Amino acid sequence: MQLKEYMDSIKCLVEGRLDELLPEAPDSPEAVLYRAMRYSVLGGGKRLRAIIFLATCDLFGLKQELYLDFACALEMLQTYSLIHDDLPAMDNDDYRRGQLTCHKVFGEAQAILAGDALLTQAFNLMLSLDDEVDRGLLCQAARQTAWLLGLGGMVRGQAADMALTGQDPDLPLLQYIHYHKTGAFFQAAIKSGAIFGQALPREMEALCAYSERIGLLFQVVDDILDLAGDEQVLGKPPGSDKRNSKITYPSLIGLEKARKLAEKTAEEAKAALEIFGSKVWFFNELPAYLVKRSFGVAAKVDDLPLKNFF
Ligand code: IPE
Ligand code: IPE
Ligand code: MG
Ligand code: MG
Ligand code: MG
Repeated sequence: MQLKEYMDSIKCLVEGRLDELLPEAPDSPEAVLYRAMRYSVLGGGKRLRAIIFLATCDLFGLKQELYLDFACALEMLQTYSLIHDDLPAMDNDDYRRGQLTCHKVFGEAQAILAGDALLTQAFNLMLSLDDEVDRGLLCQAARQTAWLLGLGGMVRGQAADMALTGQDPDLPLLQYIHYHKTGAFFQAAIKSGAIFGQALPREMEALCAYSERIGLLFQVVDDILDLAGDEQVLGKPPGSDKRNSKITYPSLIGLEKARKLAEKTAEEAKAALEIFGSKVWFFNELPAYLVKRSFGVAAKVDDLPLKNFF
């Protein structure tokens, strides 16, 4: 199967289930909360974390349908993180996934609450799987996801990102932020699949190394796209990082070096999975697919470290 076809088939499965899982607004004073949740979760997105998680389940011969709700929970977590990331107190962005951001439509209070509800509901959903999948493995996967999305990863990275905004760029700090705010989520998706698949220690180690590279690669490309990516494709106007004086790879080392880094990281990701042989075809093709997203930006931006602009 082609990569795109494989990814689209999982995306379709996940979106169908998310539609079922998110209740329509009841006739009640808090109906707006339900509308905000559905608006943001069903409003688009690449569903990459769910796809990567289910591809990992696939790798270990697990039935994807059994783990579909876990994948949907990861996407609820992804949407919560974006709703909060876009808030005026954080990146203050008006568009996301090709539509107005949650707080622009429903107001800040309901956007914060929609994020809160998606975060808590995600763990409710994961832990409701205990009749269908092994309870011990489920507990391990949910626990490490909570850690990697919270204090051990994403929230820690977002806090560092905010605290260091506007400061003089520095490579180790930038790596620290990217590793946590973005990389940890990819780790959670892959590690959860590997936990359910009862990966051998050396397989788990290889998958962890892969997910770290993918996380870095993904955020380097996201930073490049924020310089001059296509608004139609991105679903958000570029320029948020510059407006917010964020430390990014292109601002620190220039666009061309940032792209080279993405390409090198893609090769390292592939190399990490050599022990699996050809059965990791999806994981082998994914890095180049992610790097390709950044093609086309070069023509629109002068290649110089952008430090001076910030
Ligand atoms: C956005 O992630 C947040 C980052 C880590 C840069 P995605 O670009 O995967 O967002 P969606 O889920 O596809 O909208
Ligand atoms: C945020 O990174 C990553 C999250 C943990 C939400 P960005 O702020 O760069 O993400 P975008 O560019 O708004 O999607
Ligand atoms: Mg941000
Ligand atoms: Mg942002
Ligand atoms: Mg960004």
